[in-house]
Amino acid sequence: MKALVLAGGSGTRLRPFSHTMAKQLVPVANKPVLRHVLEAVRDAGVTDVGVIVGSRGAEIRQAIGDGDGLGLDLTFIPQEAPLGLAHCVVAASEFLAGESFMMYLGDNIIVDGLAGFVREFQGSGADAQILLSKVPDPEHYGIAEVDAQGRIIGLVEKPARPKSDLAVVGLYLFGPAIHTAVRSIQPSRRGELEITDAVQWLIERGGAVRSHLLRGYWKDTGRVDDVLECNRAFLEGIAPAMLGKVDADTEVIGRVSIGRDVTVQGSRLVGPLIIGDGSTVVDSHVGPFTSIGAGCHIEGASMDYSILMESVTVRGIRGLHGSVIGRQSTLSPPASALRTSRIVTGDHSHLQIFQH
Ligand code: TTP
Repeated sequence: MKALVLAGGSGTRLRPFSHTMAKQLVPVANKPVLRHVLEAVRDAGVTDVGVIVGSRGAEIRQAIGDGDGLGLDLTFIPQEAPLGLAHCVVAASEFLAGESFMMYLGDNIIVDGLAGFVREFQGSGADAQILLSKVPDPEHYGIAEVDAQGRIIGLVEKPARPKSDLAVVGLYLFGPAIHTAVRSIQPSRRGELEITDAVQWLIERGGAVRSHLLRGYWKDTGRVDDVLECNRAFLEGIAPAMLGKVDADTEVIGRVSIGRDVTVQGSRLVGPLIIGDGSTVVDSHVGPFTSIGAGCHIEGASMDYSILMESVTVRGIRGLHGSVIGRQSTLSPPASALRTSRIVTGDHSHLQIFQH
């Protein structure tokens, strides 16, 4: 079995970060989402992996390499424009060569072994197997209607009156019939070839479409709040590490992972927390549920439930919460006695400024 990982798309919901980086490279627990995805594919026993890339393909190749370090054989497949999830199957048809395959959305995190899901499909002879997860707000998801045998009898995108609370998770297993389906459907109203339409096409022609209920954690990291929540979930399972230097005036509470060449002085670190290589933390309170990227400098600051990407400086700012700060940003109070705020920020940024 091969895998097709989708790392193109436009990422409009993840602005401003998607203005300057591929959304699949946004870090969760200091590791790009796409790397989490590729590790999950490998752990499911699949090593021949096609990666669909769009306009940010070069950046993705640079970040992921040829897959050697991951134990994967990666083939990058360009998609000329984000024309839909089913279009990705069309774009990858040469790579997939009519075989069964796993399709995994490159911005989805599934914290659960996938090997059982794959094994179940391989012995079944089904045309597709869809991973489902119970959600409290089905009107926001692709929703499946399932019969008593667990067969999917209908799929609807964001239904106003949902027939179940079973959302389609970003991982699908397909047999060869999907190749005919994706070439038979028409673009939807939003102009995309929808994978739900291709699966519906299979169902209407008597295809066997099975479901599998996921019990573990799943998150689509499509929006900033999702990335923060995903970061929280990943940090819950983090292993403590101490590769840097922490002075005697620092208190370390809970599971804290401190990278190489990190220096911490006179601070309070509350896990779960990860601090990337080469960062410094001085006179600050950091954590819990916080990821500090490599090369950051934090001084006289406090923060929790936040993500700092690489080389961020936060100096003299207290009470950061639910914040995601892009690479090489600087946060500091105004110079001298000025009582004004100065903000230099990119397009589609979101700033909530607490006024004393
Ligand atoms: P989505 O999150 O559904 O789409 P998007 O990336 O365009 O984001 P937004 O809605 O915020 O504009 O895509 C799911 C995954 O599939 C994601 O990793 C991007 C990828 N994808 C492709 O590779 N090609 C495509 O044509 C589409 C639509 C998505």
